[in-house]
Amino acid sequence: MRRAVCPGSFDPVTLGHLDIIGRASLLYDEVVVAVGVNASKKRLFSFEERTEMLREVTAGYGNVTVDSFDGLIVDFCRQREVQVIVKGLRAISDFDYELQMAQMNHGLAGIETMFMTTNPLYSFLSSSLVKEVATYGGDVAGLVPEAVHRRLLERLPAPRPLAQP
Ligand code: PNS
Repeated sequence: MRRAVCPGSFDPVTLGHLDIIGRASLLYDEVVVAVGVNASKKRLFSFEERTEMLREVTAGYGNVTVDSFDGLIVDFCRQREVQVIVKGLRAISDFDYELQMAQMNHGLAGIETMFMTTNPLYSFLSSSLVKEVATYGGDVAGLVPEAVHRRLLERLPAPRPLAQP
């Protein structure tokens, strides 16, 4: 059985993430989406919420499951008998750090990393930008799944109107 993991913070999952997960699901028998807990980082959504949203938006894929992990991704891979990490690469700016992580993970546990080029429709897209735009009332409806958009609107207060001079 060929298993791959798509790890990330997914705070929140975007259409760019979903594109990579869907394409990975065509290449592997089973894809585990692994949500990093990392409690030390400030998140908009708790890991339970991030996991729940991912389950909702990947429900249509028969071979995709969602789980969370705390600690090293290679330990999660070993526990779940996953051989490959799949990561999306948006631009050359992603590459330096991703290369370091891939080499470290291979050195630590022999886990391979496969890089998948992001769909150009989403090459500018990140969870951080989605949160920033949504915080100031910008329209992110075309950037995240509908279930995520709903939650963003619930979570983020409506922007205050500009003060009149
Ligand atoms: O969505 P992100 O924030 O880019 O995801 C980064 C993530 C969670 C995939 C990465 O930070 C990670 O794998 N963290 C787990 C800790 C770990 O294994 N660190 C060593 C990597 S070489």
